[in-house]
Amino acid sequence: MRKKIIAANWKMNMTVGEATSYIETFLREIGDEKRVEIVIAPPFTAIPKVSELLSKVHTVNLSAQNMSAEKSGAFTGEISASMLRELFVRHVILGHSERRSLYGETDGIVNKKTKAALEANLKPIVCIGETLVERDAGKVEEVLDTQLKGSLAGLSAEDLHEIVIAYEPVWAIGTGRTATPDQAQEAHAFTRKVLAEISSQAVADKIRIQYGGSVKPENTKALMSQPDIDGALVGGASLDPRAFSEIVKFSAELS
Ligand code: PGA
Repeated sequence: MRKKIIAANWKMNMTVGEATSYIETFLREIGDEKRVEIVIAPPFTAIPKVSELLSKVHTVNLSAQNMSAEKSGAFTGEISASMLRELFVRHVILGHSERRSLYGETDGIVNKKTKAALEANLKPIVCIGETLVERDAGKVEEVLDTQLKGSLAGLSAEDLHEIVIAYEPVWAIGTGRTATPDQAQEAHAFTRKVLAEISSQAVADKIRIQYGGSVKPENTKALMSQPDIDGALVGGASLDPRAFSEIVKFSAELS
């Protein structure tokens, strides 16, 4: 049984002050919820404060939204894995479609970052997903296959146990247009098939695959009850602590 993992991707939102009141409200709302793993990914500047606020909370884990593939040195504006570990960050989102489309991240770069994260004991959340043009051209499987094989190249079975995959169809991100539960399930089942090809069925059966793209309280249960959907990566709706706690609770009720 895979424990569901529900993550908030705040993107470039939340000052330190806003993050503080968010966390206070959110912790009150979720109480002692342990049936699902909860992850929050603030912007870098809010990580130290959120880390401090979560230091005595064992039910919510901290994530970064990106990191450098390099260890240290002359890389102006970049943040390394060890800098994140020092702040008790546990996960890192890698290859989000906004990083891929706006900042030119390729599968090769995502692969380098994934390896650097694992080396530093960070658990990567590796994002994949097709655009609308690719879906309309019937290329969903081809795109997912290429992204998975490229982003996860050279990882051992042990490494794969540490990662989470997020399937996020680009056309559903921030658009209010969600993949139907059947469309999402189909892509997740295919993703698991490719993971089995890369490693083995036993390893693939243990890897959690999140769905992302306009997840909100109203569509959570239908999506999270699909057999291969093991959690959610939530953008817009995660900015409201009450909406995000509802998504967490609705997912937990299915566990
Ligand atoms: P959204 O974003 O929930 O606003 O669609 C999801 C994501 O980009 O991770």
